Amino acid sequence: MSFTSMWADLEPIGRDAASGGYRRYAWTSQDAVLREWFAGECQARGLDVSTDRAGNQWAWWGDPDAAVTAGDPGVVTGSHLDSVPDGGAFDGPLGVVSAFAAVDALRDKGFTPSRPIGIVNFGDEEGARFGVACAGSRLITGALNRLRAAELADADGVPLTEAMAGAGIEVDHLGRDDEALRRIGSFIELHVEQGRGLVELGRPVGLASAIWPHGRWRIELAGQANHAGTTRLADRRDPMLALASVIVAARSEAAKRGCVATVGKLRVEPNGVNAIPSQVTAWLDARGAAESDVWAIAEAVGVAGGGSGAIEESFTPATSFDQALTARLAGVLDGAPMLATGAGHDAGILASAGIPSAMLFVRNPTGISHSPAEWAELPDCLDGVRALTRVLAELSG
Ligand code: GLV
Ligand code: MN
Ligand code: MN
Repeated sequence: MSFTSMWADLEPIGRDAASGGYRRYAWTSQDAVLREWFAGECQARGLDVSTDRAGNQWAWWGDPDAAVTAGDPGVVTGSHLDSVPDGGAFDGPLGVVSAFAAVDALRDKGFTPSRPIGIVNFGDEEGARFGVACAGSRLITGALNRLRAAELADADGVPLTEAMAGAGIEVDHLGRDDEALRRIGSFIELHVEQGRGLVELGRPVGLASAIWPHGRWRIELAGQANHAGTTRLADRRDPMLALASVIVAARSEAAKRGCVATVGKLRVEPNGVNAIPSQVTAWLDARGAAESDVWAIAEAVGVAGGGSGAIEESFTPATSFDQALTARLAGVLDGAPMLATGAGHDAGILASAGIPSAMLFVRNPTGISHSPAEWAELPDCLDGVRALTRVLAELSG
């Protein structure tokens, strides 16, 4: 299976014909097709597939448990296959397809790893359906515990646990998975770049230095439903107005601090053109170079500490990738440039859990992500595969 044939297999799955974007949400029928594709690719290579306690899929070339017993656990690569609403084709799948392609390249060269190599498909990375990003890696590291997970539900009220159970996951076993974690000596995630850093540097492949800290809050604003034509302005209790203040305050605090803040998802009740809303639910996503900046944005809009009816859905501290590992990879990759990113990744969750982790980025000529305009040229993708192949050879040799 070449890179391009794997890519062609994935291309139609979950793509919306009208927008051209992907709607691949965790634990849906589209997700099941993607998971079957992953299992098929593993089986075609003679690799057994297993799932951990959170339903993340793993395949190993070599015996991961023998390596644990020998005190020299394996090297894992991979990413995720789910998407944001109308997401691009590359965010996630590029890392999974490149993982298979890199293993194929090593085998074609007759390479025999002295440490096992694992390929992973992390579930529910985007949090598009249940609100918590990187739920699969957070669950196995314990950053998302079973009680919190049991409280999560999608917009239709379907609990995460019910959706997972429907996909065949034993939800009674949800929780930190030491058996899965012990097997990961190091984790390397290849990902499309989600900005223009590599375009500006004129380089096809780079390495991640750090991930900005990131908070997500759900804000519940209550009002009173009433007629849009007959209710005097002075008599209104309009939660949309409160939301407007939140958005403007978040934006201005973020601008002051060189951060970013976004309100990209709303639920409005009753959602009528001619009705003042009775309830608005909004999600604030704030990120910056320092945790104190992210908290300052939350404070400026009054959502820190549960203000404004806010619920903190997730807070991800700053992540610095393993410096020794990243420096070693920079050496292998002829001094690939280092980039910090504001995007969250499973590699960041594993790094925060103490697993030596690193990321490779592949140039994105549009600089756009979480959109159908996300892109990577095929020669750059193949450069990414070559880089990942060299990295895996270095770490497993
Ligand atoms: C995931 O891609 C995120 O950064 O929200
Ligand atoms: Mn993403
Ligand atoms: Mn991603």
